Amino acid sequence: MTRINEHYRKLGAGYLFPEIARRVGEFGAANPDATIIRLGIGDITLPLAPAIVEALRTAADEMGRETGVHGYGPENGYDFLIEAICEHDYEARGVGIAANEVFVSDGSKQDSGNIQEIFGAECRIAVTDPCYPVYVDTNVMAGRTQNARPDGTYEGILYLPATEANDFAPPPPEQPADLVYLCSPNNPTGSAASRANLTAWVSWARQHGSVLIFDAAYDAFIQDDDLPHSIYEIDGARECAIEMRSYSKRAGFTGLRCAYTVVPRQLEGTTSEGDRVCLADLWSRRQATKFNSVPYLVQRAAAAVYSPDGRKQTAEQVAHYMRNAALLREGLQAAGFVVFGGEHAPYVWMRTPGGMSSWDCFGELLSKAHVVGTPGSGFGASGEGYIRISAFNSRENVEEAVARIRRVFSG
Ligand code: MLT
Repeated sequence: MTRINEHYRKLGAGYLFPEIARRVGEFGAANPDATIIRLGIGDITLPLAPAIVEALRTAADEMGRETGVHGYGPENGYDFLIEAICEHDYEARGVGIAANEVFVSDGSKQDSGNIQEIFGAECRIAVTDPCYPVYVDTNVMAGRTQNARPDGTYEGILYLPATEANDFAPPPPEQPADLVYLCSPNNPTGSAASRANLTAWVSWARQHGSVLIFDAAYDAFIQDDDLPHSIYEIDGARECAIEMRSYSKRAGFTGLRCAYTVVPRQLEGTTSEGDRVCLADLWSRRQATKFNSVPYLVQRAAAAVYSPDGRKQTAEQVAHYMRNAALLREGLQAAGFVVFGGEHAPYVWMRTPGGMSSWDCFGELLSKAHVVGTPGSGFGASGEGYIRISAFNSRENVEEAVARIRRVFSG
């Protein structure tokens, strides 16, 4: 029989969100009359903005004409999208990113999972804990860890607890690590890293020769203009950081799929002989071999996000979700719950009432309030005792969810 990749067997339960969907599905089947409000996975609920729909239509019409055929696209993305990215996401914030440093892809989930492939098998990984599960699981699959411990953590990964005490933004550790995953605004805690925190990280990474993987999938939700949207707003980050951005949450692309990763030309890794290698070249090689670019239609839709109408319409969508986040945060706080996040991110992070476990709280919420959250422990051991509540839903459902949670847990 053909041998499997044994590292997959080190993974604990199924991937977090399908597992939640399974439990919710079972509950729904057993309770067909329950009106379930889904505030679990952070999936958009608003329709695509008109400017994006228009761009898709126009591109589809174009591709239906002989003069508008678009087959395989340029492997790293069309110039029209990359130029818009460099201008609006970077130049506008005083950051210089060159076109050959941008790699358009079909999602930050994929990019944050795949990026580890260009690094050595012996690299030591560090993650903030809790974190987006993809960072850990993909390194387990790649064999960078031993088996899971009883609390779900893995020997071989350096966990940096993100706690109430450090405002869910851990400082750099004493110990070295080769690759560190950071996410701001943070999934799942909803916190946003300060300029001082990111400056400390960049300085640490440069001192240790480490690489930071900065996941900025939620940057559009930042409300305070002093908070950094990009790690490259920090001096020296071009020598130590890779950044990922996504259109999923910012412009409703969870079903369309488009994102990008920035790998600055200065960023280098080393071979076993000590030779320095440009990481952008390695990532480009990886993408060209394993990926055939994002559909033309979708890249046209992504470019429409930067048009005047697209910017206005997507900003309104973000504002809708952020108003929901404020209602969740304020409504739950007013009822005595201890709640974090929701100010610069579409997630609120709630301490479970009465110290119950995250999964017990998930079960109580589902069975008694018919509200779906995401158990904090699903994001890592330090998430135990918390539940994440997503702001991606209608106003009506969010208001109803707050009322139900208050009823169930205070009654
Ligand atoms: C989440 O809910 O954490 C995200 O929607 C998952 C994802 O972006 O893949």
